[in-house]
Amino acid sequence: MTRIEIPSDRFIARPDSLWSRQWFALTSGNMAQNTFNTMTVAWGGFGTMWAKPFVQIVVRPSRYTFQFMEKHSSFTLCAFPKSYKKALQVLGTKSGRDCNKIAEAGLTPVSASVVAAPLFDEAELAIECRKMYWDDMKPENFLDKEIESNYPDGDYHRIYFGEIMAITGTERFNS
Ligand SMILES: Cc1cc2nc3c(=O)[nH]c(=O)nc-3n(C[C@H](O)[C@H](O)[C@H](O)COP(=O)(O)O)c2cc1C
Repeated sequence: MTRIEIPSDRFIARPDSLWSRQWFALTSGNMAQNTFNTMTVAWGGFGTMWAKPFVQIVVRPSRYTFQFMEKHSSFTLCAFPKSYKKALQVLGTKSGRDCNKIAEAGLTPVSASVVAAPLFDEAELAIECRKMYWDDMKPENFLDKEIESNYPDGDYHRIYFGEIMAITGTERFNS
């Protein structure tokens, strides 16, 4: 898909709808070394941190993608047109440990413009990030006790902040 470069201060989106309804493919690793993995994410956010544009994502240590997030310095987030919902279901239910789910989902990895982690050609929005911070979710800090019900196996997310290094997208993400 043809995407234009979007400066971070011109980027427009409906964040809640984008995360919770459209979902993202999170990819970490290195395209040149042909070592990367992708999974679907629906929890996260965008904003400003330490005066830089950033995204926050949360990854459970049990995910294969977690190993790539730990080892590599960059990650990307790709959002797709509605017709790719099935592809995101595949990426969000199968593990890269067991199969080539990217091929199964019918997606084409392509080099990003700035970071080592790849993007997907089919994306209508692609955000390239450099890892800048992490922390682990601490159950003792849950102010709403209902949050604990998300963690029946104690698989607390690791939180990552990524500095946004580049955004490309279709015209509708550009103001
Ligand atoms: C809609 C949707 C949203 C998801 N969001 C997250 C998330 O934000 N964080 C997370 O750790 N797992 C999330 N998952 C689960 C992973 O995508 C899933 O476990 C995936 O199979 C992991 O693949 P991997 O083992 O190849 O890394 C989500 C799954 C779906 C279907």
